[in-house]
Amino acid sequence: MAAEMFKDRLQAKIDDRSAVVGLVGLGYVGLPLAVEFGKAGFKVVGYDVSERVTTLLMQGRSHIQDVSSSDIAALVRSGHFVATTDETALAEADAISIAVPTPLGKTRDPDMTYVISAAETIRRQAHPGLLVVLESTTYPGTTREVLLPLAESVGLTVGEDFFLAFSPERVDPGNPVYHTKNTPKIVGGITPACTELASALYGACIDAIVPVSSTETAELVKLLENTFRSVNIGLVNEMAIVCDKLGVDVWEVIEAAATKPFGFMKFTPGPGIGGHCIPLDPHYLAWKMRSLNYKTRFIDLASEVNSQMPDFVVEKVAHGLNEDRKPVNGSRVLVVGVAYKRDIDDVRESPALDVMRLLEERGAEVDFHDPHVPVLRENGREKRSVELTDDVIRSADAVVIVTDHKSIDFQRLMNHAGLIVDTRNATSKLVPTRARVVTLTSGARSAVVTS
Ligand SMILES: NC(=O)c1ccc[n+]([C@@H]2O[C@H](COP(=O)([O-])OP(=O)(O)OC[C@H]3O[C@@H](n4cnc5c(N)ncnc54)[C@H](O)[C@@H]3O)[C@@H](O)[C@H]2O)c1
Repeated sequence: MAAEMFKDRLQAKIDDRSAVVGLVGLGYVGLPLAVEFGKAGFKVVGYDVSERVTTLLMQGRSHIQDVSSSDIAALVRSGHFVATTDETALAEADAISIAVPTPLGKTRDPDMTYVISAAETIRRQAHPGLLVVLESTTYPGTTREVLLPLAESVGLTVGEDFFLAFSPERVDPGNPVYHTKNTPKIVGGITPACTELASALYGACIDAIVPVSSTETAELVKLLENTFRSVNIGLVNEMAIVCDKLGVDVWEVIEAAATKPFGFMKFTPGPGIGGHCIPLDPHYLAWKMRSLNYKTRFIDLASEVNSQMPDFVVEKVAHGLNEDRKPVNGSRVLVVGVAYKRDIDDVRESPALDVMRLLEERGAEVDFHDPHVPVLRENGREKRSVELTDDVIRSADAVVIVTDHKSIDFQRLMNHAGLIVDTRNATSKLVPTRARVVTLTSGARSAVVTS
């Protein structure tokens, strides 16, 4: 078949929704995407190596907080979605998106094993006319260097009978306004035909598509976005340390600066950064640039400042306990919120884990409460979220607010805790009652004892 025919045929299948869309990886990124494709009328084949995940999904149960079980159940019932651990199911796919993890190794080098394994799976099921889109965040050059050779090894020619693009996922878990569908999607193909087809596919279920000129551009867009966040969070975290030393309230400084209607964008300090993106993604770029003998100083500096924040928080706890004539060793500390940000259940790279570990290393007895995280499993250990009762709060020598989930009753903490270390400014507008509150930048803000 002539090259144009492969392209036209896939375009027509996208237009009339008869194209079958495969997804490799059904996690935080892959599952919402699968749902959007399914809702747009495509048949979606979701392949995941986790049997637990595929079994749950086939029972109509979602394992991702932002994806409703009723959506999954409806798509499974209507035949628009199948989840399977059988990779041969991907053979019927006309287009396949890859959303597998891209972690960093211990030395902060990219761990490409999941992407390579996904690419090999696709290679085994590939056929002429297939479109493949990589969604996983990675270093510039990955799509061309890792995925393209695998296709070529089975005799497919990119832009002719095989189409390859990169389209970074921008999902913001827990965001009530922006979801997969209404967040503009960047698409960059190896050839113009690849960009066109990938844009057509995503355009069928996402409101706005932003085509760019290459896969490297698309890869770099994602890294710029997340490096921008990392650097700005690093800046305000450093500003918190500066304010602490100067005796100025960093939150007041930021709120006042944010009244400037132009040229300022508000970022807030906190206990450190977490999740699968901000702490990791910039290092993909740093690694790539090291290989080109260039040191990405902003990335390294932001990472250094952000990764020191858990130590800064623990120093605040130690200082606060000290004022109560208590050593950290043997003190009971209640960490409130362990997810890496508000209103989500994801604890990957969460600074709360570092805060808890550092406190335990100093001999503290650490419990946690998180309405979104019933159990924490780390290094073979399991810890359960404790209920936030008045007694539990009162029995803690220090309460550390690490994540300010909306559903937590912070006033209750104020009413019953002795010492609160508030890393999120969650208590600033509450009625000062029993607790002495220590913020990132204040010694003790309130000390009104009523009981
Ligand atoms: N979570 C986010 O907020 C977010 C946002 C934007 C981009 N990303 C990027 O998207 C990618 C995926 O992240 P995620 O958060 O969805 O990860 P995840 O861990 O939630 O999901 C990944 C899924 O892939 C499956 N998997 C692993 N190896 C596989 C293989 N070889 N074949 C098939 N399935 C496999 C896992 O079982 C898991 O279900 C990463 O590169 C991440 O950086 C994540």
